[in-house]
Amino acid sequence: MLGSLIKGLPKEEDLSVKSRPYFNHSIEFKKSCTAEERAKVLEKAGLNVFFFPADMVSGCDFLSDSGTTTMTNEQWASLQMGDETYGSNRGYFLLMEQIRELFGIEFFNEMTAGRPNAFIFHQGRPCEDALFTMLGKLGQGQIIPSNGHFDTTEANIENNQIRALNLFSKELKDENSKFHFKGNMDVEKLKEVLDKNPGKVPVVYLTITNNTGGGQPVSMENIKEISELCHKNNIPLFFDACRFAENSWFIKKFEYGYSNKSIKDIIKEMFSHVDGFTISFKKDGLVNMGGGLFLKDNGLFVKKYSQIPDALMNHQIVKEGNPSYGGMSGRDIMALVTGLKTIHREDYLDFRVNQVKEFGDAMLKKGIPILTPTGGHAIYMDVNKFFQDTNMKPGDFGGVSFTAILLAAYGHRACELGNFAFGSYDPITKTEKFPEVNFVRFAVPRLRYEKQDLDSVAEAVKGIYDLRKEIPGVNVVYGKDLVLRHFKARFEFKNQSS
Ligand code: F0G
Repeated sequence: MLGSLIKGLPKEEDLSVKSRPYFNHSIEFKKSCTAEERAKVLEKAGLNVFFFPADMVSGCDFLSDSGTTTMTNEQWASLQMGDETYGSNRGYFLLMEQIRELFGIEFFNEMTAGRPNAFIFHQGRPCEDALFTMLGKLGQGQIIPSNGHFDTTEANIENNQIRALNLFSKELKDENSKFHFKGNMDVEKLKEVLDKNPGKVPVVYLTITNNTGGGQPVSMENIKEISELCHKNNIPLFFDACRFAENSWFIKKFEYGYSNKSIKDIIKEMFSHVDGFTISFKKDGLVNMGGGLFLKDNGLFVKKYSQIPDALMNHQIVKEGNPSYGGMSGRDIMALVTGLKTIHREDYLDFRVNQVKEFGDAMLKKGIPILTPTGGHAIYMDVNKFFQDTNMKPGDFGGVSFTAILLAAYGHRACELGNFAFGSYDPITKTEKFPEVNFVRFAVPRLRYEKQDLDSVAEAVKGIYDLRKEIPGVNVVYGKDLVLRHFKARFEFKNQSS
Protein backbone atom coordinates (compact mmCIF):
# COMPACT_ATOMS: atom_id res chain seq x y z
CA MET A 1 0.00 0.00 0.00
CA LEU A 2 2.60 2.52 1.11
CA GLY A 3 4.84 1.49 -1.80
CA SER A 4 2.18 2.35 -4.38
CA LEU A 5 1.18 5.53 -2.54
CA ILE A 6 4.67 7.00 -2.76
CA LYS A 7 5.16 5.97 -6.39
CA GLY A 8 3.35 9.04 -7.72
CA LEU A 9 5.37 11.50 -5.64
CA PRO A 10 8.40 13.42 -6.93
CA LYS A 11 11.49 11.27 -6.39
CA GLU A 12 13.76 12.04 -3.46
CA GLU A 13 16.75 12.53 -5.78
CA ASP A 14 14.80 15.01 -7.94
CA LEU A 15 14.05 17.47 -5.13
CA SER A 16 15.84 20.78 -5.64
CA VAL A 17 17.13 20.88 -2.07
CA LYS A 18 18.37 17.71 -0.40
CA SER A 19 19.20 17.18 3.22
CA ARG A 20 22.85 16.70 4.08
CA PRO A 21 24.26 13.16 4.17
CA TYR A 22 25.20 13.69 7.84
CA PHE A 23 23.97 15.58 10.88
CA ASN A 24 25.80 17.61 13.49
CA HIS A 25 27.45 15.48 16.13
CA SER A 26 28.69 18.29 18.28
CA ILE A 27 28.91 22.00 17.72
CA GLU A 28 30.89 24.95 19.00
CA PHE A 29 29.32 28.30 19.69
CA LYS A 30 31.20 31.21 18.17
CA LYS A 31 32.25 34.15 20.26
CA SER A 32 30.41 37.24 19.23
CA CYS A 33 32.34 40.38 18.43
CA THR A 34 31.61 43.59 16.61
CA ALA A 35 33.02 44.92 13.35
CA GLU A 36 34.71 47.72 15.30
CA GLU A 37 36.44 45.23 17.61
CA ARG A 38 37.63 43.18 14.65
CA ALA A 39 38.86 46.26 12.78
CA LYS A 40 40.92 47.36 15.76
CA VAL A 41 42.57 43.98 16.21
CA LEU A 42 43.21 43.53 12.48
CA GLU A 43 44.84 46.91 12.21
CA LYS A 44 47.11 45.97 15.08
CA ALA A 45 47.91 42.77 13.15
CA GLY A 46 49.06 44.84 10.17
CA LEU A 47 45.99 43.78 8.13
CA ASN A 48 47.51 40.32 7.80
CA VAL A 49 44.65 37.86 8.21
CA PHE A 50 47.06 35.10 9.30
CA PHE A 51 47.78 37.08 12.48
CA PHE A 52 44.12 37.59 13.34
CA PRO A 53 42.87 35.53 16.33
CA ALA A 54 40.64 32.70 15.07
CA ASP A 55 38.36 33.13 18.09
CA MET A 56 37.31 36.47 16.66
CA VAL A 57 36.42 35.04 13.22
CA SER A 58 32.75 35.31 13.95
CA GLY A 59 31.72 34.52 10.38
CA CYS A 60 33.27 31.74 8.27
CA ASP A 61 36.94 30.85 8.28
CA PHE A 62 38.15 30.13 4.74
CA LEU A 63 41.85 30.52 5.45
CA SER A 64 42.39 26.88 4.63
CA ASP A 65 40.63 23.59 4.05
CA SER A 66 43.73 21.94 5.52
CA GLY A 67 43.45 20.36 8.95
CA THR A 68 40.18 22.22 9.48
CA THR A 69 37.84 19.31 8.87
CA THR A 70 35.13 18.41 11.36
CA MET A 71 35.83 14.79 12.25
CA THR A 72 33.07 12.18 12.32
CA ASN A 73 31.89 10.52 15.52
CA GLU A 74 33.64 7.35 14.32
CA GLN A 75 36.92 9.26 14.06
CA TRP A 76 36.52 10.69 17.55
CA ALA A 77 35.88 7.16 18.77
CA SER A 78 38.97 5.94 16.86
CA LEU A 79 41.14 8.35 18.83
CA GLN A 80 40.36 6.26 21.89
CA MET A 81 41.82 3.25 20.11
CA GLY A 82 45.14 5.01 19.60
CA ASP A 83 48.10 2.85 20.51
CA GLU A 84 50.91 5.05 21.79
CA THR A 85 53.67 2.47 21.76
CA TYR A 86 57.00 3.33 20.23
CA GLY A 87 57.37 0.70 17.52
CA SER A 88 54.88 -1.11 15.28
CA ASN A 89 51.78 0.30 16.95
CA ARG A 90 48.34 -1.08 16.12
CA GLY A 91 47.44 1.89 13.90
CA TYR A 92 50.48 1.38 11.70
CA PHE A 93 49.19 -1.98 10.49
CA LEU A 94 45.67 -0.64 10.01
CA LEU A 95 47.07 2.29 8.04
CA MET A 96 49.07 -0.12 5.88
CA GLU A 97 45.85 -2.01 5.14
CA GLN A 98 43.98 1.17 4.29
CA ILE A 99 46.68 2.66 2.03
CA ARG A 100 46.90 -0.65 0.17
CA GLU A 101 43.13 -0.88 -0.17
CA LEU A 102 42.74 2.68 -1.48
CA PHE A 103 45.86 3.33 -3.55
CA GLY A 104 47.26 -0.12 -4.33
CA ILE A 105 49.09 -2.86 -2.49
CA GLU A 106 52.39 -1.79 -4.07
CA PHE A 107 52.50 1.48 -2.10
CA PHE A 108 53.07 -0.03 1.36
CA ASN A 109 55.52 -2.90 1.89
CA GLU A 110 55.76 -4.88 5.10
CA MET A 111 58.63 -3.48 7.15
CA THR A 112 60.22 -6.93 7.23
CA ALA A 113 60.40 -7.02 3.41
CA GLY A 114 63.51 -4.83 3.61
CA ARG A 115 62.21 -2.57 0.84
CA PRO A 116 60.99 0.53 2.69
CA ASN A 117 58.54 2.51 0.55
CA ALA A 118 55.99 4.06 2.94
CA PHE A 119 57.07 6.99 5.09
CA ILE A 120 54.71 8.62 7.57
CA PHE A 121 55.23 12.32 8.41
CA HIS A 122 53.28 14.79 10.51
CA GLN A 123 51.95 16.73 7.52
CA GLY A 124 52.57 17.31 3.80
CA ARG A 125 55.59 19.60 3.73
CA PRO A 126 58.04 17.39 5.66
CA CYS A 127 57.35 14.72 3.01
CA GLU A 128 58.30 17.26 0.35
CA ASP A 129 61.38 18.27 2.34
CA ALA A 130 62.46 14.61 2.57
CA LEU A 131 61.96 13.82 -1.10
CA PHE A 132 63.51 16.99 -2.52
CA THR A 133 66.45 16.82 -0.11
CA MET A 134 67.23 13.44 -1.69
CA LEU A 135 66.68 14.65 -5.24
CA GLY A 136 68.75 17.79 -4.64
CA LYS A 137 71.76 15.56 -4.08
CA LEU A 138 71.52 14.18 -7.63
CA GLY A 139 73.20 17.19 -9.19
CA GLN A 140 73.01 20.79 -10.37
CA GLY A 141 70.57 22.40 -12.80
CA GLN A 142 67.59 20.14 -12.19
CA ILE A 143 63.99 21.08 -12.95
CA ILE A 144 60.74 19.66 -11.53
CA PRO A 145 57.75 20.47 -13.75
CA SER A 146 54.21 20.40 -12.40
CA ASN A 147 50.68 21.31 -13.43
CA GLY A 148 50.89 23.72 -10.45
CA HIS A 149 53.21 23.41 -7.47
CA PHE A 150 51.76 24.35 -4.08
CA ASP A 151 53.76 27.11 -2.36
CA THR A 152 55.47 24.86 0.19
CA THR A 153 56.23 22.29 -2.51
CA GLU A 154 57.83 24.97 -4.62
CA ALA A 155 59.78 26.31 -1.63
CA ASN A 156 61.02 22.83 -0.67
CA ILE A 157 62.13 22.20 -4.26
CA GLU A 158 63.94 25.52 -4.55
CA ASN A 159 65.55 25.12 -1.11
CA ASN A 160 67.41 22.25 -2.74
CA GLN A 161 68.57 24.30 -5.74
CA ILE A 162 66.08 22.66 -8.08
CA ARG A 163 63.88 24.80 -10.32
CA ALA A 164 60.12 24.43 -9.78
CA LEU A 165 58.25 24.94 -13.03
CA ASN A 166 54.48 25.36 -13.47
CA LEU A 167 52.96 24.19 -16.74
CA PHE A 168 49.35 25.32 -16.30
CA SER A 169 46.83 24.20 -18.92
CA LYS A 170 45.78 26.63 -21.65
CA GLU A 171 42.18 26.31 -20.48
CA LEU A 172 43.04 27.59 -16.99
CA LYS A 173 44.01 30.92 -18.46
CA ASP A 174 40.99 31.05 -20.78
CA GLU A 175 38.22 32.59 -18.74
CA ASN A 176 35.57 31.62 -21.31
CA SER A 177 36.51 27.97 -21.28
CA LYS A 178 33.94 25.68 -19.69
CA PHE A 179 36.41 22.77 -19.65
CA HIS A 180 36.02 20.68 -16.53
CA PHE A 181 39.68 19.75 -16.15
CA LYS A 182 41.46 23.08 -16.09
CA GLY A 183 43.88 21.58 -13.57
CA ASN A 184 45.55 19.51 -16.30
CA MET A 185 49.21 19.89 -17.21
CA ASP A 186 50.03 21.32 -20.62
CA VAL A 187 51.33 18.17 -22.34
CA GLU A 188 52.95 20.01 -25.24
CA LYS A 189 54.89 22.25 -22.87
CA LEU A 190 56.05 19.24 -20.89
CA LYS A 191 57.29 17.62 -24.12
CA GLU A 192 59.25 20.77 -24.87
CA VAL A 193 60.78 20.91 -21.38
CA LEU A 194 61.79 17.23 -21.51
CA ASP A 195 63.27 17.59 -25.02
CA LYS A 196 65.27 20.67 -24.08
CA ASN A 197 66.54 19.34 -20.75
CA PRO A 198 67.62 15.74 -21.14
CA GLY A 199 68.81 14.23 -17.87
CA LYS A 200 67.75 17.31 -15.90
CA VAL A 201 64.25 16.30 -14.80
CA PRO A 202 64.42 13.88 -11.84
CA VAL A 203 60.61 13.57 -11.46
CA VAL A 204 57.45 15.19 -12.80
CA TYR A 205 54.67 16.25 -10.42
CA LEU A 206 50.91 16.33 -10.87
CA THR A 207 48.94 18.07 -8.11
CA ILE A 208 45.45 16.58 -7.75
CA THR A 209 43.41 18.73 -7.52
CA ASN A 210 45.49 21.68 -8.70
CA ASN A 211 45.36 23.99 -5.69
CA THR A 212 47.55 26.74 -7.15
CA GLY A 213 45.64 26.43 -10.43
CA GLY A 214 42.26 27.34 -8.98
CA GLY A 215 41.58 24.02 -7.22
CA GLN A 216 40.79 22.55 -10.63
CA PRO A 217 40.78 18.78 -11.22
CA VAL A 218 43.05 16.77 -13.49
CA SER A 219 41.48 14.31 -15.96
CA MET A 220 42.37 10.64 -16.17
CA GLU A 221 43.26 11.27 -19.81
CA ASN A 222 45.84 13.87 -18.77
CA ILE A 223 47.20 11.63 -16.01
CA LYS A 224 47.65 8.82 -18.57
CA GLU A 225 49.22 11.06 -21.21
CA ILE A 226 51.67 12.61 -18.76
CA SER A 227 52.50 9.19 -17.34
CA GLU A 228 53.22 7.74 -20.81
CA LEU A 229 55.34 10.74 -21.76
CA CYS A 230 57.32 10.57 -18.51
CA HIS A 231 57.90 6.85 -18.76
CA LYS A 232 58.94 7.08 -22.42
CA ASN A 233 61.61 9.49 -21.19
CA ASN A 234 62.52 7.25 -18.24
CA ILE A 235 61.27 9.85 -15.73
CA PRO A 236 59.14 8.88 -12.71
CA LEU A 237 55.80 10.58 -12.18
CA PHE A 238 54.54 11.68 -8.75
CA PHE A 239 51.23 12.93 -7.44
CA ASP A 240 50.86 15.64 -4.87
CA ALA A 241 47.76 13.75 -3.83
CA CYS A 242 46.21 15.93 -1.08
CA ARG A 243 42.75 16.11 -2.70
CA PHE A 244 42.70 12.75 -4.46
CA ALA A 245 39.09 11.92 -3.56
CA GLU A 246 37.69 15.22 -4.82
CA ASN A 247 39.70 14.77 -8.03
CA SER A 248 38.27 11.29 -8.56
CA TRP A 249 34.73 12.62 -8.06
CA PHE A 250 35.24 15.05 -10.95
CA ILE A 251 36.50 12.21 -13.16
CA LYS A 252 33.40 10.17 -12.33
CA LYS A 253 31.03 13.04 -13.02
CA PHE A 254 32.62 14.69 -16.03
CA GLU A 255 34.97 12.34 -17.85
CA TYR A 256 33.68 10.02 -20.55
CA GLY A 257 33.59 6.36 -19.53
CA TYR A 258 33.76 6.81 -15.74
CA SER A 259 30.16 7.43 -14.66
CA ASN A 260 29.58 3.76 -13.80
CA LYS A 261 32.86 3.23 -12.00
CA SER A 262 33.09 3.50 -8.23
CA ILE A 263 35.13 6.28 -6.65
CA LYS A 264 37.43 3.61 -5.21
CA ASP A 265 38.07 2.09 -8.64
CA ILE A 266 38.83 5.52 -10.07
CA ILE A 267 41.27 6.26 -7.24
CA LYS A 268 43.05 2.93 -7.89
CA GLU A 269 43.25 3.68 -11.60
CA MET A 270 44.67 7.18 -11.02
CA PHE A 271 47.38 5.83 -8.74
CA SER A 272 48.25 3.00 -11.12
CA HIS A 273 49.86 5.63 -13.37
CA VAL A 274 52.31 7.10 -10.84
CA ASP A 275 55.57 5.92 -9.30
CA GLY A 276 55.03 7.63 -5.99
CA PHE A 277 53.13 10.34 -4.18
CA THR A 278 53.39 12.83 -1.38
CA ILE A 279 50.23 13.63 0.53
CA SER A 280 49.02 15.87 3.29
CA PHE A 281 46.25 13.89 4.97
CA LYS A 282 44.93 17.18 6.38
CA LYS A 283 42.74 17.49 3.29
CA ASP A 284 41.19 14.29 1.91
CA GLY A 285 42.53 12.22 4.81
CA LEU A 286 39.72 14.00 6.70
CA VAL A 287 41.98 14.64 9.66
CA ASN A 288 43.60 17.54 11.44
CA MET A 289 47.14 16.17 11.21
CA GLY A 290 49.14 13.72 9.10
CA GLY A 291 51.13 13.20 5.92
CA GLY A 292 52.98 10.56 3.96
CA LEU A 293 55.41 9.78 1.17
CA PHE A 294 54.73 6.57 -0.70
CA LEU A 295 56.83 4.96 -3.43
CA LYS A 296 55.55 2.28 -5.76
CA ASP A 297 57.34 -1.00 -5.12
CA ASN A 298 59.08 -1.88 -8.38
CA GLY A 299 58.02 1.47 -9.84
CA LEU A 300 60.37 3.55 -11.97
CA PHE A 301 61.38 5.78 -9.05
CA VAL A 302 62.70 2.98 -6.83
CA LYS A 303 64.34 1.30 -9.82
CA LYS A 304 66.05 4.47 -10.98
CA TYR A 305 67.05 5.80 -7.57
CA SER A 306 67.53 2.58 -5.65
CA GLN A 307 69.63 4.30 -2.96
CA ILE A 308 66.89 6.79 -2.04
CA PRO A 309 64.36 4.64 -0.09
CA ASP A 310 66.86 3.73 2.62
CA ALA A 311 68.14 7.31 2.75
CA LEU A 312 64.54 8.47 3.13
CA MET A 313 64.05 6.17 6.07
CA ASN A 314 67.16 7.59 7.72
CA HIS A 315 65.84 11.09 7.11
CA GLN A 316 62.46 10.13 8.59
CA ILE A 317 64.02 8.59 11.70
CA VAL A 318 66.27 11.60 12.29
CA LYS A 319 63.66 14.27 11.58
CA GLU A 320 60.34 12.72 12.63
CA GLY A 321 60.39 9.39 14.45
CA ASN A 322 60.35 5.63 14.27
CA PRO A 323 59.16 4.52 10.80
CA SER A 324 55.98 3.00 12.18
CA TYR A 325 54.64 6.33 13.45
CA GLY A 326 56.76 8.91 11.63
CA GLY A 327 55.53 12.25 12.87
CA MET A 328 52.15 11.08 14.09
CA SER A 329 50.77 9.99 17.44
CA GLY A 330 49.04 6.61 17.59
CA ARG A 331 45.66 8.27 18.03
CA ASP A 332 46.20 10.54 15.03
CA ILE A 333 46.92 7.44 12.94
CA MET A 334 43.68 5.81 14.10
CA ALA A 335 41.62 8.89 13.16
CA LEU A 336 43.33 8.86 9.76
CA VAL A 337 42.54 5.20 9.15
CA THR A 338 38.86 5.94 9.79
CA GLY A 339 39.04 9.13 7.68
CA LEU A 340 40.39 7.15 4.73
CA LYS A 341 37.54 4.66 5.09
CA THR A 342 35.05 7.53 4.91
CA ILE A 343 36.43 9.91 2.31
CA HIS A 344 35.43 7.91 -0.78
CA ARG A 345 31.73 7.78 0.18
CA GLU A 346 29.89 9.06 -2.83
CA ASP A 347 27.15 10.75 -0.81
CA TYR A 348 29.82 12.70 1.06
CA LEU A 349 31.70 13.71 -2.10
CA ASP A 350 28.47 14.66 -3.91
CA PHE A 351 27.55 16.91 -1.05
CA ARG A 352 31.03 18.31 -0.57
CA VAL A 353 31.79 19.30 -4.13
CA ASN A 354 28.24 20.53 -4.76
CA GLN A 355 28.40 22.66 -1.64
CA VAL A 356 31.46 24.41 -3.05
CA LYS A 357 29.71 24.76 -6.42
CA GLU A 358 26.58 26.25 -4.85
CA PHE A 359 28.76 28.71 -2.96
CA GLY A 360 30.32 29.69 -6.28
CA ASP A 361 26.88 29.99 -7.90
CA ALA A 362 25.74 32.29 -5.09
CA MET A 363 28.74 34.52 -5.80
CA LEU A 364 28.13 34.48 -9.57
CA LYS A 365 24.46 35.39 -9.06
CA LYS A 366 25.63 38.52 -7.27
CA GLY A 367 28.02 39.37 -10.11
CA ILE A 368 31.22 38.48 -8.25
CA PRO A 369 33.94 37.36 -10.70
CA ILE A 370 35.18 33.90 -9.75
CA LEU A 371 37.06 31.16 -11.55
CA THR A 372 34.62 28.76 -13.24
CA PRO A 373 33.82 25.92 -13.29
CA THR A 374 34.37 25.82 -9.54
CA GLY A 375 36.97 23.34 -8.27
CA GLY A 376 36.65 20.89 -5.42
CA HIS A 377 37.69 22.69 -2.27
CA ALA A 378 37.57 26.43 -2.75
CA ILE A 379 36.19 29.43 -4.57
CA TYR A 380 38.83 31.56 -6.27
CA MET A 381 37.78 35.17 -6.72
CA ASP A 382 39.45 36.90 -9.66
CA VAL A 383 41.02 40.01 -8.10
CA ASN A 384 41.94 41.64 -11.43
CA LYS A 385 38.35 41.43 -12.61
CA PHE A 386 36.94 42.49 -9.25
CA PHE A 387 38.84 45.78 -9.48
CA GLN A 388 38.95 46.14 -13.27
CA ASP A 389 36.83 49.30 -13.43
CA THR A 390 38.67 50.97 -10.52
CA ASN A 391 42.03 52.69 -10.09
CA MET A 392 43.53 49.69 -8.27
CA LYS A 393 46.96 48.86 -9.72
CA PRO A 394 48.65 45.41 -9.50
CA GLY A 395 51.18 46.73 -6.95
CA ASP A 396 48.38 48.10 -4.74
CA PHE A 397 47.55 44.49 -3.76
CA GLY A 398 43.79 44.92 -3.92
CA GLY A 399 43.33 41.31 -2.84
CA VAL A 400 44.95 42.14 0.50
CA SER A 401 42.68 45.18 0.94
CA PHE A 402 39.67 43.02 0.14
CA THR A 403 40.49 40.30 2.68
CA ALA A 404 41.08 42.90 5.40
CA ILE A 405 37.75 44.61 4.74
CA LEU A 406 35.82 41.31 4.54
CA LEU A 407 37.27 40.18 7.86
CA ALA A 408 36.75 43.45 9.69
CA ALA A 409 33.28 44.23 8.38
CA TYR A 410 31.72 40.76 8.32
CA GLY A 411 34.00 38.40 10.26
CA HIS A 412 34.75 36.14 7.27
CA ARG A 413 38.41 35.21 6.78
CA ALA A 414 39.58 34.56 3.21
CA CYS A 415 43.13 34.63 1.92
CA GLU A 416 44.94 36.50 -0.85
CA LEU A 417 46.69 34.04 -3.17
CA GLY A 418 47.83 36.26 -5.98
CA ASN A 419 50.01 39.29 -6.63
CA PHE A 420 51.22 39.43 -3.05
CA ALA A 421 51.38 35.77 -1.98
CA PHE A 422 52.78 34.44 -5.24
CA GLY A 423 54.56 37.62 -6.37
CA SER A 424 58.04 38.71 -5.36
CA TYR A 425 60.03 41.88 -4.92
CA ASP A 426 63.37 42.32 -6.64
CA PRO A 427 65.52 44.58 -4.40
CA ILE A 428 67.98 45.27 -7.24
CA THR A 429 65.50 46.60 -9.79
CA LYS A 430 63.13 47.68 -6.99
CA THR A 431 60.22 46.18 -8.89
CA GLU A 432 57.51 43.66 -8.17
CA LYS A 433 57.18 40.49 -10.24
CA PHE A 434 53.58 39.36 -10.52
CA PRO A 435 52.34 35.79 -10.94
CA GLU A 436 50.09 34.53 -13.74
CA VAL A 437 47.11 34.23 -11.40
CA ASN A 438 45.69 36.79 -8.96
CA PHE A 439 43.09 35.30 -6.66
CA VAL A 440 41.47 35.62 -3.27
CA ARG A 441 40.76 32.07 -2.12
CA PHE A 442 37.78 30.98 -0.05
CA ALA A 443 38.84 27.46 1.00
CA VAL A 444 35.84 25.57 2.37
CA PRO A 445 36.64 23.33 5.37
CA ARG A 446 35.17 19.83 5.14
CA LEU A 447 31.94 19.05 7.05
CA ARG A 448 31.97 22.41 8.81
CA TYR A 449 29.60 24.93 7.26
CA GLU A 450 26.03 24.93 6.02
CA LYS A 451 24.40 26.62 3.05
CA GLN A 452 23.20 29.50 5.19
CA ASP A 453 26.78 30.29 6.24
CA LEU A 454 28.00 30.35 2.65
CA ASP A 455 25.04 32.39 1.36
CA SER A 456 25.78 35.01 3.99
CA VAL A 457 29.36 35.26 2.69
CA ALA A 458 28.17 35.85 -0.89
CA GLU A 459 25.98 38.69 0.38
CA ALA A 460 28.86 40.21 2.34
CA VAL A 461 31.18 40.05 -0.69
CA LYS A 462 28.53 41.76 -2.81
CA GLY A 463 28.39 44.59 -0.28
CA ILE A 464 32.11 45.16 -0.70
CA TYR A 465 31.92 44.74 -4.50
CA ASP A 466 29.38 47.56 -4.71
CA LEU A 467 31.87 49.89 -3.00
CA ARG A 468 34.97 48.61 -4.86
CA LYS A 469 35.82 52.01 -6.35
CA GLU A 470 36.35 53.40 -2.85
CA ILE A 471 38.68 50.64 -1.70
CA PRO A 472 42.28 51.82 -1.34
CA GLY A 473 45.33 49.68 -2.05
CA VAL A 474 47.87 48.81 0.65
CA ASN A 475 51.47 49.71 1.36
CA VAL A 476 53.64 46.85 2.51
CA VAL A 477 55.02 48.09 5.81
CA TYR A 478 57.09 44.99 6.48
CA GLY A 479 58.24 41.92 4.58
CA LYS A 480 57.84 42.64 0.87
CA ASP A 481 61.29 41.19 0.12
CA LEU A 482 60.88 38.01 2.20
CA VAL A 483 60.18 34.54 0.83
CA LEU A 484 56.72 33.16 1.69
CA ARG A 485 56.02 36.79 2.51
CA HIS A 486 52.24 36.51 2.86
CA PHE A 487 52.69 34.64 6.14
CA LYS A 488 54.87 37.38 7.61
CA ALA A 489 54.09 40.76 6.05
CA ARG A 490 52.27 43.72 7.56
CA PHE A 491 50.31 46.31 5.61
CA GLU A 492 48.52 49.61 5.96
CA PHE A 493 45.90 51.18 3.73
CA LYS A 494 47.38 53.61 1.21
CA ASN A 495 45.38 56.67 2.07
CA GLN A 496 46.70 56.53 5.62
CA SER A 497 50.19 57.57 4.63
CA SER A 498 50.22 58.51 0.93
N1 F0G B 1 50.36 20.23 -1.42
C1 F0G B 1 49.20 20.86 -1.62
C2 F0G B 1 48.52 20.77 -2.95
C3 F0G B 1 48.63 21.59 -0.58
O1 F0G B 1 47.47 22.20 -0.79
C4 F0G B 1 49.29 21.66 0.66
C5 F0G B 1 48.74 22.46 1.75
C6 F0G B 1 50.50 20.97 0.82
C7 F0G B 1 51.01 20.26 -0.25
C8 F0G B 1 51.26 20.98 2.10
O2 F0G B 1 50.63 20.25 3.07
O3 F0G B 1 50.05 21.89 4.85
O4 F0G B 1 50.09 19.46 5.33
O5 F0G B 1 52.19 20.69 4.97
N2 F0G B 1 47.82 23.28 1.61
C9 F0G B 1 47.16 24.08 2.59
C10 F0G B 1 46.27 25.09 1.90
C11 F0G B 1 48.02 24.66 3.63
O6 F0G B 1 45.73 25.97 2.61
O7 F0G B 1 46.05 25.00 0.69
P1 F0G B 1 50.74 20.60 4.63
